[in-house]
Amino acid sequence: MISAEKIPNNVNLSSNKRLQRALEHWQPKYIQWWRDMGPQGFQDYHHVYVRTAISVDPEGWAHFEYVKLPEYRWGIFLADPTPDRRIGFGDFFGQPVWQEVPGEFRNQLRRLIVTQGDTEPASVEQQRLLGRRCPSLYDLRNLFQVNVEEGRHLWAMVYLLHSYFGRDGRDEAEELLERQSGNRDKPRILEAFNEPIDNWLDFFMFTMFTDRDGKSQLMSLSESSLDPLSRTTRFMLTEEAHHMFVGETGIARILERTCQLMKQAGYSEDVRTVGGIDIPTIQKHLNQWFSLSLDLHGSEVSSNAASYFANGLKGRAKEDTFDEHIVKNAYYNMEFFEDGKPVTKDVLMRNAMNEVLRDWYVGDCAAGVVRWNRILEAHGMSDRLALPDRKFHRGIGMYSGFHFDPNGVPLTAEQWEKRKYDWLPSEADSEYLLSIMAEPVYEPGRFANYIAPPRRGVNQQPVDFEYVRTEQ
Ligand SMILES: [Fe+2]
Ligand SMILES: [Fe+2]
Repeated sequence: MISAEKIPNNVNLSSNKRLQRALEHWQPKYIQWWRDMGPQGFQDYHHVYVRTAISVDPEGWAHFEYVKLPEYRWGIFLADPTPDRRIGFGDFFGQPVWQEVPGEFRNQLRRLIVTQGDTEPASVEQQRLLGRRCPSLYDLRNLFQVNVEEGRHLWAMVYLLHSYFGRDGRDEAEELLERQSGNRDKPRILEAFNEPIDNWLDFFMFTMFTDRDGKSQLMSLSESSLDPLSRTTRFMLTEEAHHMFVGETGIARILERTCQLMKQAGYSEDVRTVGGIDIPTIQKHLNQWFSLSLDLHGSEVSSNAASYFANGLKGRAKEDTFDEHIVKNAYYNMEFFEDGKPVTKDVLMRNAMNEVLRDWYVGDCAAGVVRWNRILEAHGMSDRLALPDRKFHRGIGMYSGFHFDPNGVPLTAEQWEKRKYDWLPSEADSEYLLSIMAEPVYEPGRFANYIAPPRRGVNQQPVDFEYVRTEQ
């Protein structure tokens, strides 16, 4: 039986019998999925110090307790409604927002929600083996915090599907548990969510760059005319911020430690000889996850994006900071690649909405890289990390048929083949990372050799707090 205690919510779940029944039917399948595809080896005997959202106000949001992972209370929360909210962009600008799904946009909205929803369980699946290689209990707990919240994001999308899309929505909710990351027959919808994440450098880069794509998408959906979608995604953004914190500080702590080890080993020495992660390897993983996450924003010129915008379904990040919201006769000056040369052309702004969002995303990533470089600077290092050019290593959009180096210089297929592992992780890099992560660190307060401890613990607990306890 589903109750308010079992599923904390602010949607008055107990008063909506139809929805309650639908979720009661779905819940056991979700739990089974979590057991099968969630964190392996940490389901039954471990108690994890996690944050559970029990309401949307600041105190309710930061409620900490030890739980066994399958007993986490996945809740359903919508941000508080904005009184008299109006449609903020597109052809219906200024009209009242929708509390129900308009028939003519039903398919488009369902597709947007399913595509977002599919990424949430996918990332849990990608990360399921990381626990056994954790660099500390603090990091192990952060991994599980991210995982349970991605599970909650799935609940958020399933809530919308069940509430507003009838039979189709229920079918989609089932399929969200059936597709599997990396599965050959039933893969996840988007490519970055089919890549395995089996080492912690990938995990931190993923939470830095791919969760930040989540932020892009959630920001644009939070502008939506469908008010329940807007409110749901607005609350998800608060959790997303934590995921990016985990990624950004994870890499920052690796950089910190790498600098320490470089000094110890003598600057000319390869830091791998003392078990650290060298800066070129960090840069390669940055290149990998940044380029995969650029792809997630879709094609540069897109009639779907134009239609989502025109219909008021998906806006721009921070729509209210733009001067004009109908954007019918505006143009975007876009770079194309023709006959081996870049050429710029004007494209109708509505057709360029994916690129507009990608611009926002690149800026947000660049600010993070500046913060990382301050660490290298503080240690007197001359090395710097950098975002690769957005043409580099693209699988989607107009650059996907060509090859470029990280500076955006065109390469022949032959040149690319020869040099790609100068810029992307090689088999040998992965093997090295797995070798230094082979032994998990489960002792409170201890950290693997390749990563520095965090400045602070979680929820004002000390760094050596027992964030994950094993049942005696
Ligand atoms: Fe998420
Ligand atoms: Fe996330």
